[in-house]
Amino acid sequence: MNRAAWKSRFGFYLVAVGSAFGLGNLWRFPYIVAENGGGAFVLLYVLLALILGLPLLIAELFLGHSNRKSVMSATLLLDAKTHTRWKKWIGRLSVVISLVVLSYYSVISGWVLHFLMQFFIETASRFGVESQITMAPLMRSGVLQLGLASVHLLIATVIVTKGVQEGLEKWVGALMPAFVLMMVVLVTKTFSLPSTPEALRFLFYPDFSKLKLSSLLAAIGHVCFTLSLGFGTMVTFGSYLSDKEHIPTAAFRITLIDTLLSLVAGILIFPIALSFNHQTLKEPALLFEALPGFLLSLPGGAWFGILFFLCLYLASLSASISLLEVIVSNAMEFKKIPRMSAAWGALAIVLILATIPAFSTNLMRFTGEGSAVELLDFILIQLILPIAAVSIGSLVYTSIAESEKQRLFIDRLKIESLAMYSHWKWTLKYLVPAILFAAVLLQFFALLK
Ligand code: TRP
Repeated sequence: MNRAAWKSRFGFYLVAVGSAFGLGNLWRFPYIVAENGGGAFVLLYVLLALILGLPLLIAELFLGHSNRKSVMSATLLLDAKTHTRWKKWIGRLSVVISLVVLSYYSVISGWVLHFLMQFFIETASRFGVESQITMAPLMRSGVLQLGLASVHLLIATVIVTKGVQEGLEKWVGALMPAFVLMMVVLVTKTFSLPSTPEALRFLFYPDFSKLKLSSLLAAIGHVCFTLSLGFGTMVTFGSYLSDKEHIPTAAFRITLIDTLLSLVAGILIFPIALSFNHQTLKEPALLFEALPGFLLSLPGGAWFGILFFLCLYLASLSASISLLEVIVSNAMEFKKIPRMSAAWGALAIVLILATIPAFSTNLMRFTGEGSAVELLDFILIQLILPIAAVSIGSLVYTSIAESEKQRLFIDRLKIESLAMYSHWKWTLKYLVPAILFAAVLLQFFALLK
């Protein structure tokens, strides 16, 4: 693989922020907040993004940058350097996580595709009828969900086999400012809804009694998911980063932008959700139940719908491509599988895995609480992903030479970087593992109750 550095610093930001910003911010963040009681959880999430997400993001970028390798080769190299044999397993775990997450990310991307098509049909056939665009057809049919996920994966696979994903990622990144602008315009439209004060209070007033024992782990999992930590993606991005870039500054900006965008998503979704639909607040369907009806109620709403879901679709396509690329490039490097076979092989495995989330809303719905997709989400995003992300952080702490860490972190022109360096190391060594340990313990008590 060619390790050319990004041509411009701007290119790196477009791709890194583009990877962080996606369904995690717009789809996952609102319903996880609702599940965990609102304001207090939002506060916890923002704090954790800064004290756990940011140090881990710096660590992943360092790992890639210092070895100029992607996650599997980088961890293998650490094994060789430190005469151990287990570090490579953390790299492998990241690749497996990417594979499994891609399977249900594709199902949700399929939902986005469904709404995009519905809005197209809507604009094409406007005869003044009161129209409705809902989740119902999806919820009834696992076949439809799997079909849409397959179409989505097929598009992603073709792009990856052609090796044109980098160009696409930049284009999609360049589109994101427009997407953000549209979100802000839509937010101003929600101000006239009567539920806005209630929604803002729900989001920003921290009522700590609403937190659950499991909330800490939920927040950590979401921080890792939304910042793409534990997947190996950020390691790869770090490997392409030019030496001139100050990684901690870049990581800080990425964290800040991603967190702000989640908050904007919350400010957009909750006023709508509270005025139209209270039932689905805590479910993965939240975004899709709330937004389309509201968009249709605006003048020219169907066009807004097309634009919004098109941007959201492109964001999820670019995320899916990055996830697939992690799998394909590692398979190419390690198993010497050609790009074509690696991509189509990955597609086959992901499709088989995707049947679980696709059918979970009807056939595999558990009686009582939750569906298979929620169980999968819990095990994967809230348990395995944080463990992988924190392990990569510890590897960077223990296995990259002190002089190398200092070289990457300390910038003579930035006096504060000297003080931040010792904070960063301390946080990676003690604070981050301690928070994860506490969270797992609390989760354990929650399960016992
Ligand atoms: N952070 C992305 C989001 O918020 C999801 C994601 C996780 C991702 N891992 C990734 C995107 C790897 C690209 C590459 O939607």
